[in-house]
Amino acid sequence: MNTKAVVASESAPAGGFFCEVPSDPCAIVMFGASGDLARRKLLPALYDLSFHACLGPRFRLLGFARTEMTDNDFTQKAGEFLPTGNQAGAQDSKKSEFLKCLRYFSGNYDDPEAFRRLAQRLEELDSEGQLGGNRLFYLATPPEVYSHVIEQLKKAGLNKPKSEKSWARIIIEKPFGHDLESAKELNKKVLEAFDESQVYRIDHYLGKETVQNMLVFRFGNGIFEPLWNRNYIDSVQITAAEELGVERRAAFYESAGALRDMIQSHVLQLTSLTAMEAPATFDATAVRNEKIKVLQSIRPFTKESVWKDVIRGQYGPGQVGGKPVPGYRQEPGVKPDSATDTFVALKLHVDNWRWSGVPFYLRTGKRLAQPLTEVAIQFKSAPHMVFRGESNETNSLVLNIQPNEGISLSFGAKSPGAQMRIQPVTMDFKYKDAFGGGSRPAYATLINDCIRGDATLFDRADSVEAAWTLVDPILEAWKNASPPPFPNYPAGSDGPRAVEDLAAIDGRHWRPL
Ligand code: BG6
Repeated sequence: MNTKAVVASESAPAGGFFCEVPSDPCAIVMFGASGDLARRKLLPALYDLSFHACLGPRFRLLGFARTEMTDNDFTQKAGEFLPTGNQAGAQDSKKSEFLKCLRYFSGNYDDPEAFRRLAQRLEELDSEGQLGGNRLFYLATPPEVYSHVIEQLKKAGLNKPKSEKSWARIIIEKPFGHDLESAKELNKKVLEAFDESQVYRIDHYLGKETVQNMLVFRFGNGIFEPLWNRNYIDSVQITAAEELGVERRAAFYESAGALRDMIQSHVLQLTSLTAMEAPATFDATAVRNEKIKVLQSIRPFTKESVWKDVIRGQYGPGQVGGKPVPGYRQEPGVKPDSATDTFVALKLHVDNWRWSGVPFYLRTGKRLAQPLTEVAIQFKSAPHMVFRGESNETNSLVLNIQPNEGISLSFGAKSPGAQMRIQPVTMDFKYKDAFGGGSRPAYATLINDCIRGDATLFDRADSVEAAWTLVDPILEAWKNASPPPFPNYPAGSDGPRAVEDLAAIDGRHWRPL
């Protein structure tokens, strides 16, 4: 979100943004460097930063993992995950410049000796690359090893900045804990080693351009904010639907499920950005103070309301994109009688002055009819209909987060002809048309912000715990109930049938996927 440092450049490839000033020199230690996240998201994001001159030559990436590998092996493998062919950024000279900054370190995450050697290695990289002692530790390992790494960093003295002029920061991937208690324990562990100002809990949704634009849309314009409250808004629907299944992540997903994986993090982030008050200033403290107030205003689930207001689901076999796909229980690594949720829909009440009486309907799921992430604001109808025989056309404003990034306002217009007929029409803004194709990868934005010391788009200890506080009673109720009747929706559908009732009972409908 560091707007000053980033300028659009005419020489940039479509959608590209170059940094006016490169970030501080630094060493990035990537724990879990041989993992899926590192390969698919982090390496391309770092390359994007290097390509766009946000990371200067005075940067080193030290991949840390258990696998034995040489610097060369790692560099070669990393090269395979960078853009190729006609993709933006596929430029050989830039790639080799970036790859020259990569190093590898193999060690166990709980081995003090490995971390002692790591400290030495960082000293060497510091002098070799003139990195000024700045260090960013990125926890991209399975969550079970987070506390080991944090403990070893502390023991090796790597938790503190090397000098008064340098910094040491840590990025921690989601999931941050698997319930409230474990999140609290992890926060405790982290804060025993690091100061909160050094800690960057990442949720990649906050790095998406369209998610950041929610702040600009709401607080950078005068036109919508006066309507953004219970006087004009009937309800809010937030959807994060995926077409993909569990892919090769069954080991993780079996113990997570959609509620932990998506609602506790991404979907509640979207809820906070939709419902928050305007921050006094645009900085990490002010923005995060306003976001947490939303979580604290959400009416807690009770044993009774969980069964009324939360629906869970799991996909069975079905068709996606015209092709047959297996059910969740048939996916490799999934138990044949798994009770893991791959879909959740729920109704929330934000009990404050702005939102009293406005229901928020949230849903997320895997293997749904199509990928779609959006925030839809449904406005109240006109108070009195003067056009006889015509139904009241409803107005909605839809923030399309992905895949067709944009904003769409729908209202009723007179259809041409002798009669006074009303037809729904839309006014559309599309990112693609306004700004050209492509946008900065979410991870690139967030890593760049962290290197620049801007925590606005990261989670704080209290907000992670507030999100778990909301989700915990649901997990608890599910744990104590008999196994759900899974599977209860076919892959490629809109989710379980019972979901429609959640809105229908209030006389509303879900938007079609
Ligand atoms: C991750 C979840 O955090 O977000 C995944 O663990 C999910 O299960 C992914 O697929 C969705 O992210 P995006 O950016 O593809 O919407």
